[in-house]
Amino acid sequence: MKPMPLVAGNWKMNGLRASQAELDALNAVLTAKGAPCEVLICPPFTLVAAFAAATGDKVAIGAQDCHAKQSGAHTGDISAEMLKDAGAGYVIVGHSERRADHGESSEAVRAKAEAVLAEGLKPIVCIGETESERDAGKTLDVVLGQLAGSVPTGSTAANTVIAYEPVWAIGTGRTPTVAEVAEVHTAIRSALVARFGADGTGFRILYGGSVKPDNANELMAADNVDGALVGGASLKASDFTGIIDAYRS
Ligand code: 13P
Repeated sequence: MKPMPLVAGNWKMNGLRASQAELDALNAVLTAKGAPCEVLICPPFTLVAAFAAATGDKVAIGAQDCHAKQSGAHTGDISAEMLKDAGAGYVIVGHSERRADHGESSEAVRAKAEAVLAEGLKPIVCIGETESERDAGKTLDVVLGQLAGSVPTGSTAANTVIAYEPVWAIGTGRTPTVAEVAEVHTAIRSALVARFGADGTGFRILYGGSVKPDNANELMAADNVDGALVGGASLKASDFTGIIDAYRS
């Protein structure tokens, strides 16, 4: 059975308290039209609690990172337990911006994902190749290596989401072709089935990287694409609902 698609917005380091107007607008549209898929907004840490308190039943709230430990002397860090307490349901881990800016290895990402699972929250584990890795023909090696290294043993289709985000497609307006997306997603699917058996068929595998209302239809229709992880186009409810519309038949 095909899993319920998930369209998730990653606000990255964007959003002030006034930005709750966009969440309100998103909730209003989805309440009026119904939600054709699961919908998630991951604002910066500062807005997680307020957004979780303000959202309706159509939009879940998540966070963009967490520490691998539950508490302790880690100045400036946030734990999965804190995010659960704030009302988050999902936590993005291993985003390429964190792998690049903070040197996070797949081993570190896996530890974070384990911390998320331990709190009963769902990790969205991000993987993806750089442009030079793609040019060198290493895309599948890199992506499948990150998948194997970053996804915990305790992951299941019900508790973990995978996001394939080619680094060179993030924020650039460039995307792989539909065939290229399908190739990588199908390879990820095969690896999940090889590792998790039949349950591997049910993991949601999101595509991320320059998803916009005008390319969402074709990208979301690609084989083994079960939703989107959206950056820039998730900041405005009008754009984000245009992407969600890809799941209205
Ligand atoms: P853009 O949609 O802005 O390309 O960002 C994608 C992304 O990194 C989502 O996590």
